[in-house]
Order: sequence, then C-alpha cells, then structure tokens
Amino acid sequence: MSIIDKLLGKNKRLKNPVPIPVKTDIHSHLVPGIDDGSQSLEESVKLIRELQKLGFRKIITTPHIMGDHYRNNIQNIRDGLEKVKDELAKQGIEIPLETASEYYIDDHFMELLKKDEILSFGDRYVLVETNAINYTEIIRTAFWQMGLSGYKVVLAHPERYAYLWNDFDRFHEYKDMGIFLQINLVSLSGFYSQKVREIAERLIDENLVDFIGSDTHEIRYIEGIHESLHSPYMHKLKELKLLNDTL
Ligand SMILES: [Fe+2]
Repeated sequence: MSIIDKLLGKNKRLKNPVPIPVKTDIHSHLVPGIDDGSQSLEESVKLIRELQKLGFRKIITTPHIMGDHYRNNIQNIRDGLEKVKDELAKQGIEIPLETASEYYIDDHFMELLKKDEILSFGDRYVLVETNAINYTEIIRTAFWQMGLSGYKVVLAHPERYAYLWNDFDRFHEYKDMGIFLQINLVSLSGFYSQKVREIAERLIDENLVDFIGSDTHEIRYIEGIHESLHSPYMHKLKELKLLNDTL
C-alpha cells in the first residue's frame, strides 16, 4: 500500500485540486455538429477555453467514426477542424489543435483499415473504442489487423467496458500485445459509475495506463474533470509514464 493510500484511503476527496500531469489532451469531441459532442462553433470555443483553464496546452480532438451512427470521414473532419481553428484565430485564442478520430470497431472500421483511410495521430497511434457490453471476435481481429498495418492501438476508456470488469487479466494481455490504454480523467470522479471509477483506479494501481484523455463532449465533462482533480489518484497518475506529452 502506498503512502497515498495509507493517508487518504480509497474514495477520499482531497481538499485541494491536483494539476493535470500532462499538457496534451488526446481525446475529445470538439468538431461541431458531426457527432454527439459539441454542437456549435460557440460551444467548441467555450470547451477549448475550459480545457486551457484545466492546463491543457495542445488538443488532439477525436470525432466519432461509427458505421451506424456517425459516418464521418477524413474530409469532413478536417473541414470542421479548419472552421474551429479559424474561429479560435478570430478570437485570439492560441492553442495547437489537431484532429484524429475515435473509431468504433465495426465492419465499417475494418473496411477503412483495408483501404488505409485512417486518421492516426503522433507516431501512427489510432484511438479505438468497442461496444460496452460484449467481447466480440471483431475486436481481436481489428487489433491484429491494425498491428499488421503498422498502427499502434490506443484503446479509449478501457474502464468503461463491462465485459472487462470481471476479466482483469485481459488488460494485462492487451498490454502484452502492445496495446496502449487511455483512461478518461472524468472516470475518477465517479462520473459514469462507481464501478467505472474503481476499474480506472485499479488500472492506475497496476501501472497499466499509457494515456489520459478528457473525452470532452459538453460542459458537464469539464465539471466532472474538476471533481476528478480532487481524487488521490491524481497523485498516482503523476508517477506513471504517461505518453500524452510525447505527441
Ligand atoms: Fe470519446
């Protein structure tokens, strides 16, 4: 048990917020009107200002690409990003803003992978998510195929997948396969559920976290992150070798 555990215990709330230990956010939904994130330029600018206040100095925003719901593509994502950048420039807000995508693993993603129409970030990292309930064979196939195509898999919010909650060994298996794990900061406040919070904490305890992300969709995520900054686990995050600032 670490000193932090002994002094504070799990689920305790620190009196003072802990600064976020990285400067680059790699997960958010800030291209307006193309997914379930920001719905207007005004909202995007507001959220970006809030991310700056939290301490982020670079943002890689990641609109959903999902066969069934959000059939975005490289072009409309880049066009949307340009509009946000123009607005930021107009308002004198300086922050590097790049785009990638959060790919839902489905048949559509497998086709994009085959055609190599993939938005990656940094050194060929690709952010992916899976369905929340069931482990399906396509997940394994996608990870395998991404590796063959020279991409590095970053699994978004692993703490949120119910099919992994009673299968913790699989997180270690993923790490052994070279998969990178990105937890959501907001998970540490209990924003989704107590269970999701506990899994995020265990991932930190077992040194399995490579990236953190805000996953900002709307203002309540920012509010949730402010609450997360009071988690003792923020101190533990600082001790991990997070890769956000290598980007
Ligand atoms: Fe997301």
